[in-house]
Amino acid sequence: MASFGYRNGELYCEDMSAASLAQRFGTPLYVYARGALEQSFDRMAAAFAALSPKICFSIKSCSNLHVLRLLRQRGAAFDAVSIGEVRRAIEAGAPAADIVFAGVGKTRAEIDTALQLGVGCFNVESAEELAALRAAAAQAGLTVRAALRVNPDVDAHTHPYTTTGKDENKFGINLAAARDLFAAHRQDTHVRLTGIHLHIGSPVNTVEPYVETVGRALQLIDELAAQGVAIDLLNLGGGWGACYQDDDAPPIEAYADAIVPLLAGRNLDVHFEPGRSIAADAGVLLARVVYRKASRSRRFVIVDTAMTDLIRPALYDAYHFLWPVSPGAAFTPASRRADLDMPGLEAVDVVGPVCESSDFLAKQRCLPPLAPDDLLAVFSAGAYGFVMASQYNSRPRAAEVLVHRDEARLIRRRETYDDLVAAEREV
Ligand SMILES: Cc1ncc(COP(=O)(O)O)c(C=O)c1O
Repeated sequence: MASFGYRNGELYCEDMSAASLAQRFGTPLYVYARGALEQSFDRMAAAFAALSPKICFSIKSCSNLHVLRLLRQRGAAFDAVSIGEVRRAIEAGAPAADIVFAGVGKTRAEIDTALQLGVGCFNVESAEELAALRAAAAQAGLTVRAALRVNPDVDAHTHPYTTTGKDENKFGINLAAARDLFAAHRQDTHVRLTGIHLHIGSPVNTVEPYVETVGRALQLIDELAAQGVAIDLLNLGGGWGACYQDDDAPPIEAYADAIVPLLAGRNLDVHFEPGRSIAADAGVLLARVVYRKASRSRRFVIVDTAMTDLIRPALYDAYHFLWPVSPGAAFTPASRRADLDMPGLEAVDVVGPVCESSDFLAKQRCLPPLAPDDLLAVFSAGAYGFVMASQYNSRPRAAEVLVHRDEARLIRRRETYDDLVAAEREV
């Protein structure tokens, strides 16, 4: 089922017209489709079923409690990168044992809190962090499970800001250093360091970087086994591709077809940390056109959403398909590609009201003619959308709505001016 699609020239989210949602909840508005969230989670679970993986939804990608609850009901565990995210997972109904706690700079206070809460696995990123975790666990009289984040020096061919598995990146430690650290910690009674954690970047739109990464991890596991160090957990992280232009990423089954045979029979607990592949295509951002104008070289469409609601175009030059909510049957789009060729389209820059030239959603994009008050949908905005929103320019953050068939539920109310100044007023 396509959760977002055009019927008679009108955009629908499941069985709700997007125009009616904008009318009821206002704009800018994040709209999530429950069916899409559930289906992408279920598809990943089914594709990798032979490995019985723990699928730890990456909270950073879409952290609304209602979304987390929904995924928890589907069997999700959680990948958290802060105590705030750990608390969200627990509030969403996850036992702490089903939370993996990652992050390159966990403070001692955060480690202590995570230990008290009973977090299931720490993904450790450096020798110094391992020492801090050891000291904290010893002081608390606990034994914890940990995976060491290994930087395999594999190029995932993503934007430089989202490549994480190359030697020049700050994440994890290299294979040689990892080998030494595993050997040195073999006898540790407080940190059971028996896992390897990897996350090479995002989105990884080809299967090969994962295959290469798994190969390096298995080689490390075999070398360690020869030294008497047993590894029982492999966490392959996230980065699985999502649909931004229809055909930019292989289906999850293609990743599984390549990876499952490599890991089958290895007797490893397998963890994944998908975010984008579950949430991106499950959300759109709705906005309304405010004004239009033209310079000598450009036509601008100014909308009521901005980089404060969706920063990905400004931050990564990321592509999002944009299209009117009510384009009429003549302008029903055949794909999500930027090079759609239909008579009557106009090349425009779609920009927000924030005082930055980086405040744009698309540049020189061919769109059907737009007029003030028209609604525009920004597709594939469910991951790294609302979670990266800011209040810059004192703009209250948008509302979030979850749609299930023909019902819509507000899952985060629109912020108000009072929300903007509350922490300043109370001091
Ligand atoms: C360690 C780790 N795991 C998982 C993810 C989730 O990645 P994605 O949303 O691309 O699946 C990230 C993203 O930055 C990450 O850094």
